[in-house]
Amino acid sequence: MFEQIDEYLRKAKKIVIVTGAGISQESGIPTFRGKDGWWRNYDAMKLATIDAFYENPKLVWEWYNERRQNIFAAEPNLGHKAIVELENYLEVVVLTQNIDGLHQRAGSSKVLELHGSIVKIKCTACDYMDEITSNFLEFPPVCKCGNILRPDVVWFGESLPQDVWKEAIAHANSCDVMVIAGTSLAVSPANTLPIYAKQNNSILVEINPDQTIMSSDMDISIRSTSAKTLSELVSIFKK
Ligand code: APR
Repeated sequence: MFEQIDEYLRKAKKIVIVTGAGISQESGIPTFRGKDGWWRNYDAMKLATIDAFYENPKLVWEWYNERRQNIFAAEPNLGHKAIVELENYLEVVVLTQNIDGLHQRAGSSKVLELHGSIVKIKCTACDYMDEITSNFLEFPPVCKCGNILRPDVVWFGESLPQDVWKEAIAHANSCDVMVIAGTSLAVSPANTLPIYAKQNNSILVEINPDQTIMSSDMDISIRSTSAKTLSELVSIFKK
């Protein structure tokens, strides 16, 4: 298996890495649908939809605040760091569903956040947008226009930021290898990125301890963790 990847990677000029919550699991951040995942213990429709937000903005903000504390206390792991190291050998673009910013904190130079960022906020009415630099004293925080602020993330039923999505498709259509690490591919449109890459005859390599709904469509599907396997991919170039 690694001989095959070896050959594909050595020939590649551009690699796109699609990531999900699984890559941050080894940094102590829960996944969504895994064993202790958020959606096993919480109702997504009560926390991650615009209706849920307007029904109980305090509850939603408290949940994001808890996640933000957890994320601020976390560190990028060997998986995030291996992706940075790959930049020494070829063009690397990260298309992440994660809102935790750990790819950027690890030092990745090209990261597209498909589902927004946990440190960004925006007003529900005016065009005010900003980054969270300190804790809010009360929830929900209010904009200077008097309307409530919301986390600048993509909730179920909402469309992705179109400029980011368009650029993500362009990268998926122009990569030699696409690595899909730590995602169940349960959520669209992010789960269509491998299809775009396949249409471009890219090699699809999946890294996930568990089978996913698209494992059979992959050229190579590795049952292992992202920290271990991404580090092994880097070692291919060091040989
Ligand atoms: N290394 C690699 N993969 C892992 C690891 C690990 N150490 N640990 C768990 N995984 C895998 C799980 O097997 C699972 O397939 O990561 C995947 C995580 O899947 P989800 O919890 O569904 O997370 P994700 O795919 O990122 O969810 C997509 O859904 O809830 C929304 O907006 C949210 O961005 C999120 C989107």
